[in-house]
Amino acid sequence: MFKQLAFDKSTAIHLIINNKTVEVAKGTTVAAAVLSHGLPYTRTTAVSGAKRAPFCMMGVCFECLMVINGQPNQRGCSTYVEDGMTVEIQQGAVAYE
Ligand code: FES
Repeated sequence: MFKQLAFDKSTAIHLIINNKTVEVAKGTTVAAAVLSHGLPYTRTTAVSGAKRAPFCMMGVCFECLMVINGQPNQRGCSTYVEDGMTVEIQQGAVAYE
């Protein structure tokens, strides 16, 4: 559904989304990286387990919560990608440790 635009590969950022290394342009948000690499959802709800995906892309709806660098409940649309970053789908309610 979403497609990454062409970009200068010399400035590419490499991150790991659900154990798969992907390459995106510097300045991309985690939510945009996830959507452009075909991940259908970013989290499941705590009650029913329904799949949710980014909606507003501006930090308001909280539908894009993911586990980023081991930290749960991070908004993918408000987080820029970084080299070596790990991103995982968040399954239900995740408590901070
Ligand atoms: S997509 Fe709405 S807060 Fe991230």
